[in-house]
Amino acid sequence: QRLLLITIDGPAGAGKTTVSRMLARKLGYRYLDTGALYRAVAWTARSADVRPDDDRGLGDVCALLHLRIEGSRLVAGGEDITDRIRTPEITMLASAVSARPVVRQALLDIQRDMGRDGGLVAEGRDMGTVVFPDADFKFFLDATVRQRAMRRYRQYGREKGQSLSRIEADIRRRDANDSSRDIAPLKAADDALTIDSTAMTARQVVDLMMAHMAGRP
Ligand code: C5P
Repeated sequence: QRLLLITIDGPAGAGKTTVSRMLARKLGYRYLDTGALYRAVAWTARSADVRPDDDRGLGDVCALLHLRIEGSRLVAGGEDITDRIRTPEITMLASAVSARPVVRQALLDIQRDMGRDGGLVAEGRDMGTVVFPDADFKFFLDATVRQRAMRRYRQYGREKGQSLSRIEADIRRRDANDSSRDIAPLKAADDALTIDSTAMTARQVVDLMMAHMAGRP
């Protein structure tokens, strides 16, 4: 059976990561979290004191970026940054650097390279529109901003002492950044199936995706 390339795009907190992982496991496919790549650029830029509007500096950061994906760990320049890229500061910085063409261009090749042989579930903002326009199946996962903030809060916000309203404000700001940028803005591909997960569990979303791919209504 031919290995498929499946894309899942959507705003922050829509459940892309949970659903992509579950779907990949079910199909025996690899899983690519492209947000982690933008976070890695943000983290490396900050470590090198490169500001998010410094295109030359960002170009150097990307050229020297030595990323390796080892299982579920992300290693940059020999350092395991898996957990360090999940802070609110790196999150907003990732959104800022991701609007710069020099960064998007550099990551485009890395992402396409990983998708070449199929057998991949790729998660992000522009997987179905820009990176893999010929993907076999495209999904756009959405939910109300309140619901998305609630999920983040339950996931780790409460434990880290962040308030729900602060998380919701950050999500709104990031959605606005990601949707309004000139290059590869967050939007559903014309041929994507949009799923509103507001009142659905991750399992229900995955079941719906499997049914869609099997050609069942
Ligand atoms: O998905 P995640 O929240 O980890 O993504 C972090 C940021 O990276 C997003 O807010 C977005 O600005 C950027 N991103 C992107 N294109 C992608 C994936 C992520 O611009 N394909």
